[in-house]
Amino acid sequence: MVKRVTVQTLLKMKQQSEKISVLTAYDYSFAQQIDSAGVDVILVGDSLGMVVQGRESTIPVTVDDMVYHTKLVGRGAERALLLADMPFMSYATVAQALESAGRMMKEGGATMVKLEGGAAQLEVVDALVNSNIPVCAHLGLQPQAVHRLGGYRVQGRESSVAQQMVEDAVALQSAGASMLVLECVPATLAANISAELTIPVIGIGAGAACDGQVLVSYDMLGVTMDAAPKFVKNFMDDAGSIPAALRGFVAAVQDGSFPAAEHIFD
Ligand code: KIV
Repeated sequence: MVKRVTVQTLLKMKQQSEKISVLTAYDYSFAQQIDSAGVDVILVGDSLGMVVQGRESTIPVTVDDMVYHTKLVGRGAERALLLADMPFMSYATVAQALESAGRMMKEGGATMVKLEGGAAQLEVVDALVNSNIPVCAHLGLQPQAVHRLGGYRVQGRESSVAQQMVEDAVALQSAGASMLVLECVPATLAANISAELTIPVIGIGAGAACDGQVLVSYDMLGVTMDAAPKFVKNFMDDAGSIPAALRGFVAAVQDGSFPAAEHIFD
């Protein structure tokens, strides 16, 4: 029997300075491959709206979509912790958040849910955690806010935005979040936030000092045909097979060789 990764496992990994590997999956077969490669957390990302459904953003993704894909992934994940994204407008109120997250756990089988946003989400995070729903917060570039932000851009280069991000990260941790994803953030800011928090901080385009790294599996396997963002490394280039590429990602996260200088924002 394989020992499951839990929220406590991830906390212990941070305390012992062991890097955490995270990849997205949207179906049973990819989940099996990713799980077998030793990835610690499988994220059923709402990126499925773009890479599976062919939409222009993550905004049209529904709770039904998330529940369906989380169920499929759960059947293939034996060891990894199963993290599922709360889609756009599924947590606009506390009542909505409880209903949506409850479905993702009860029907989808998720162990933790992820939601985007800072200070505005504190009440929702508190309510979820008080209902025994572990929460991963998401700061920096928030794809569900793409229309407010005016595009997919690095966040936190201005000192006021950076300061707000640090404050939001601390407040989310105090509200009970168990993990934090930082997306497209200057490496020094992400390093400061990772050092400040006691919960694991997982970076995507946020530098090597984070406690772990996440990538969209279709990006790091070269399945995505659109131009890859700077922070993506195609692990298929040197691997020759999908299992080898996935193992290569886990090894590179663990030994700190990914992300390298070319994947990082100043
Ligand atoms: O939806 C997703 O895949 C994500 C990652 C980019 C972190 O949120």
